[in-house]
Amino acid sequence: MSANGTKKHVATYTADDPTQISSILQGGYHHPLLRQWQMEKQLTKTALIYPLFITDDADEETEIPSLPKQKRWGVNKVVPYVGTLIAKGLKAVILFGVPLKDGTKDPYATSADDPEGPVILTIKALAAAYPDLFIICDVCMCEYTSHGHCGILREDGSILREESVRRLAAIAVNYAKAGAHCVAPSDMVDGRILAIKRGLLDAGLAHKCMLMSYSAKFSGNLYGPFRDAAGSAPSFGDRKCYQLPPGGRGLARRAIVRDLAEGADAIMVKPSTFYLDIISDAAELAKDVPICTYQVSGEYAMLHAAAEKGVVDLKTIAFEAAYGCLRAGASLIITYFTPDFLEWLDEN
Ligand code: PBG
Ligand code: ZN
Repeated sequence: MSANGTKKHVATYTADDPTQISSILQGGYHHPLLRQWQMEKQLTKTALIYPLFITDDADEETEIPSLPKQKRWGVNKVVPYVGTLIAKGLKAVILFGVPLKDGTKDPYATSADDPEGPVILTIKALAAAYPDLFIICDVCMCEYTSHGHCGILREDGSILREESVRRLAAIAVNYAKAGAHCVAPSDMVDGRILAIKRGLLDAGLAHKCMLMSYSAKFSGNLYGPFRDAAGSAPSFGDRKCYQLPPGGRGLARRAIVRDLAEGADAIMVKPSTFYLDIISDAAELAKDVPICTYQVSGEYAMLHAAAEKGVVDLKTIAFEAAYGCLRAGASLIITYFTPDFLEWLDEN
């Protein structure tokens, strides 16, 4: 009612009731561009790292049944393939070696840094063909050991720490010598960040090779398709005594702090979607270094399986998962969806 008693149109929300005005949120996201503006961090092509499986048959190009749309590549085939992705905006890859020839595996992972082995040949070939491509190497022994574990073992099957970190450091240094811009140890043996950093320093390479630690890597049920692809399943036992227990948030926090102190230049959390709290812990504990998360093979395969069943739409769910990682605090994502994202990001 106005002062003279006539009935006037009254706006539902009035200036003297600011809570109600601010309750209208939709003005902030009614337009597609606004929905992008609402993100603290946007998904960009520079945030994506693509995992590649490289075999020791130079001409191989084989589909991996448990990892939809992913292949095992020989060096001759992977170089042109990566070129097609670079043309779409790919900036970074992470390499995994998959030795398939007989007699390449032993208890010391000798073939991991074979100068004629798939990883070192591929680092060199990619670096020569694409000088701007950022090349990361996963550093681990499980693809190369006869027993399939990530370090050198005692007779009782437990990890011999000192011998293992010495060997891991040697492997990492040899990848850096071959031209890797970043080494990323995924073995989870205590003390390997310090050993690798010292190795890089001694070799005069610490200033041109980033050390990205898989600090918070959990043991769980999500690496199956990778182990199929890489032939790296342990021949006995499991990895529960070196990869972190899924409930071990405190252990993850300690590992992140420890690895930073040992000289890590970047921190990784793996897997991704099931560990968003750990990503946010990492962003808080390691706020001065890049935080990366690995959307692992099992996560990727599950999203594909769900899409095939009609439970989700693949593109939408892939973005939703990536946004979750960014929101939690990651700025880099290793994902098998990278080739798709390079196309999808152009469509948006
Ligand atoms: C090697 C390694 C694994 C993964 C990355 N590096 C397998 C494992 O720890 O068993 C998993 C990646 C994925 O599942 O996509 N230690
Ligand atoms: Zn391993």
